[in-house]
Order: sequence, then structure tokens, then C-alpha cells
Amino acid sequence: MAQKLISKYLTIFNPKHMKEQIEQANGKLGILIPGLGAVATTMIAGVEAVKKGLSQPIGSLTQMGNIRLGKRTENRYPKIKDFVPLADLKDIVFGGWDVYDDNVYEAATHAKVLEPGLLLPIKSELEKIKPMKAVFDKEYVRNLDGKNVKEAASKYELAQQVMKDIDDFKNNSGCERLVMVWCGSTEKYIEETDVHKSIYAFETGLKSNDPLISPSMIYAYAAIKKGVPFANGAPNLTCDIPALISLAKEHGVPIGGKDFKTGQTLMKTILAPGLHARSLGIRGWFSTDPDNFKTKEVSKLGVLDDILRPELNPDLYGELYHKIRINYYPPHGDNKESWDNIDIFGWLGYPMQIKINFLCRDSILAAPIVLDLALFFDLAKRANMSGIQEWLSFYFKSPQTAEGLRPEHDIFKQLIKLQNTLRHMMGEDLITHLGLDYYQDLVEAL
Ligand SMILES: NC(=O)c1ccc[n+]([C@@H]2O[C@H](COP(=O)([O-])OP(=O)(O)OC[C@H]3O[C@@H](n4cnc5c(N)ncnc54)[C@H](O)[C@@H]3O)[C@@H](O)[C@H]2O)c1
Repeated sequence: MAQKLISKYLTIFNPKHMKEQIEQANGKLGILIPGLGAVATTMIAGVEAVKKGLSQPIGSLTQMGNIRLGKRTENRYPKIKDFVPLADLKDIVFGGWDVYDDNVYEAATHAKVLEPGLLLPIKSELEKIKPMKAVFDKEYVRNLDGKNVKEAASKYELAQQVMKDIDDFKNNSGCERLVMVWCGSTEKYIEETDVHKSIYAFETGLKSNDPLISPSMIYAYAAIKKGVPFANGAPNLTCDIPALISLAKEHGVPIGGKDFKTGQTLMKTILAPGLHARSLGIRGWFSTDPDNFKTKEVSKLGVLDDILRPELNPDLYGELYHKIRINYYPPHGDNKESWDNIDIFGWLGYPMQIKINFLCRDSILAAPIVLDLALFFDLAKRANMSGIQEWLSFYFKSPQTAEGLRPEHDIFKQLIKLQNTLRHMMGEDLITHLGLDYYQDLVEAL
């Protein structure tokens, strides 16, 4: 205990110590995915295409992004993947579960996100990835009818079966390390109740088949018990419950969620901080949202309030009317079209309008997020970080936070936090953007 405390103290106050403590990314990394649908198959196919030099990992911060180090005059801007010890794409192996038994090539073909011409050259790699039997409950996702589903007398036994899948996958693939990213369908909306409040209550609930323990929670529980980092890409509660947060702390496992930040919410968290930064007022924000899940409203509505903080500035945002109208239009499939009308006001209250028509491809925006999360959660585990990884809020519509804290939604603040965490891990100075001239001005003013 004392040694752990000393190590933590050294890490906080001497980042160089942290750098020395990070395990290198040796050997293979297995990315395990419950839900091999549009997002997961687009990510897997993309990684395989990139490995073969057929395409580029655009939209992935870990692969394409740079990070500034030191003073501007030093001119050090390495690629993030060259700065922190991330798993190399060539060392990644994929596995997963689905209620349908299609292999990843078949599932990617059905998803119709990527063209056949891109999938054909990687067909043999994708065909090898076959889904394991899923933990599934029709109560949570009604419109699915797959037969590739586990059977057991209790949810506890189902969790044991997932743990066995994890062990078998590790042994058969020869992976050194694993991470899990939930890409399964959005589950029905439930609220936190007693069964979610402690590890004891949760495990008792698993044994008595408590209906408020969802399949995604069973995967998360199994992953955490096995020491496998877990990220949740859907808006379901999943690991955002006290029982699993405590379990993650106890087992030294990084966790995080919820809901990949794509589409219209991505746009909101880019635009709102800019208007807010210029102290421009906003009277109304109306969005037609192409998503087909009403439960998603919960993860989408809070975004503007958290960025604009109307209670701190009622003159600018106190009257804000924020409406999201969810209109799913099936003929467009994954290529969704969203409309935003934003009524803003400027100097002396004069009104202006912004209209956005975003023709986005959801899975194309989500795929690099899955990859980055897998790589960063693996890094976090090797850096001995556990519990909720708030520095990865950048990737989520509804970032999980420690109890009582407001989530940070502003994408630019999220990026600063992410980059400073990486700098801290590697013993580099944190960047506050307060340049030398600022200090000179200060000295002159004194
Ligand atoms: N597409 C995006 O931009 C985006 C953005 C944010 C969040 N998400 C979330 O990502 C998830 C996946 O989205 P998608 O577009 O790939 O959906 P999808 O319907 O194409 O794929 C979901 C897959 O999960 C499988 N599945 C459902 N329940 C399962 C279970 N219990 N165990 C194993 N497999 C299960 C389904 O059979 C299906 O193959 C959804 O929850 C969605 O809300 C997607």
C-alpha cells in the first residue's frame, strides 16, 4: 500500500517517473468488439486496408495527428504515434461477438458503408474474423433476431462464458494484451438503480437474473474482471454505474464512454465553443437529427448547456431554445443528413442566422474513434491508469466523469486535455499557451 502511494506521488509530481513506468507496446494487441455491425466492420476493414497500404487512416488522431512539444521556437511537432508508445497497426488482431454469425467480410458487405472494390483485396483477412456467440436479450434491443446467442441459466454464467471467450481468444491469437470497445446496437434506456450501486449488489443481481442488468453491462463486467480496458461507444449506461466504476478501480482497469462523438453532436461541439468564445448570444438552436434512437436524445441534449453555461451568462444564453427533432430517413442509411438552424445575436442584440446542412457518413466518422480509443485505452493500461479516463472525453458525446463533476464537451478543451495528458505521460512540459511575451508584459507591468 505504502509503495503504491509513493509511486502515485512520484508520478504526479515527477512525470519523468511516469514515462519510465509505461510498459512498451510489445507483442500483439487484440481488439475485442461486441457488435460487429456497420461501425466495427468499417473500422476493421479500414485498418486492414491501411496495413496493406491501400488507404490512409484519415480522421484518426493517433495515426495522422501531430503534437507540439516544448516552446514554439523548438519546432518539435512529432506525430502522436511516434511520441507515445502505441501499438503498431501491424500488431493488431481483431475478435468480437455478434448475434448474427456473418463473418466480418459478409457483415461489412451488408452494412454497405464501404464499396466492394475496397473490401475485395482484404476479403481473406476479413473472412477469418468470425463472431463468437453473443450475450443478448431482446428486452434491450427489440429489432434483432439472430441465433448466434449464448445460453445459460443466469447472467452470472453468461459473464463467465464471456470471460472464457476472452481467455480463449488470448491463447489462440497469441495476443499480449486486449482491449474491448462496445459497438453493439443501442440498448433501451434504463436509469441507474440499486442493483448498479455496488459490486456486491451487481454480482447478486447477475446471479438472480436482475432484469436491469443489460447485456452490455455483462460484457463490461467480464472485461474488467479479466483486466481488459473497456470503452463504450453507445449511449447505454454500461460501465457508467458505481458498481463497474469501483470494479475497474479495484482491478486497475481503465474504462470510459459514452457514445462516439460523430455527426451533428460533433458539429455542435465544434461550433458552440467558437460562438461562446466570441461572447455571441444564441437564442435558438433547432436540429433535425437523422438518428433512429430516441434514447440518444439524453446524450445529445446536454451538450449545449455544458458548453454555454447559461446560468453563468443569462444575457447571452438564458433564453436559448434547444430542440432536437429526431427524424430517421431509411433510404439514406448510414449517409445521414442533418439540418441545423441557429439563431444568434451580436452587438446591441442584432440577430443573425446560421444554417448547416451536414451530409455525413456516420460510420466513416466513428471508425477512427474506435481505433484511437482502443490504442489509447491500451496505452492507459500500460501506464497504470485505471477507472474513468476523462482525458479521452474528446471521443464521446456524453463523456463519463467522476461523480459530481460536469462533463467537458468543448472539443478544443478536450483536445488540450488529451494532449497534455500525453505530454505528462512522457515527461514533457504541459503547454498552457502562455508564451514568453506574456511573461515579459507581466514583468514590465510590475
Ligand atoms: N455510427 C455512428 O456514427 C455512431 C455514433 C455514435 C455511437 N454509435 C453507436 O455504435 C453502435 C454501433 O452502431 P452501428 O451503426 O455499427 O450499428 P449496427 O446496427 O450496424 O451494428 C450493431 C451490431 O451489434 C450487434 N449486436 C446487438 N446487440 C448485441 C449484443 N448484445 N452482443 C453482440 N452483438 C450485438 C448487432 O447484431 C449488429 O451487428 C450503436 O450502439 C450506435 O449507437 C454509432
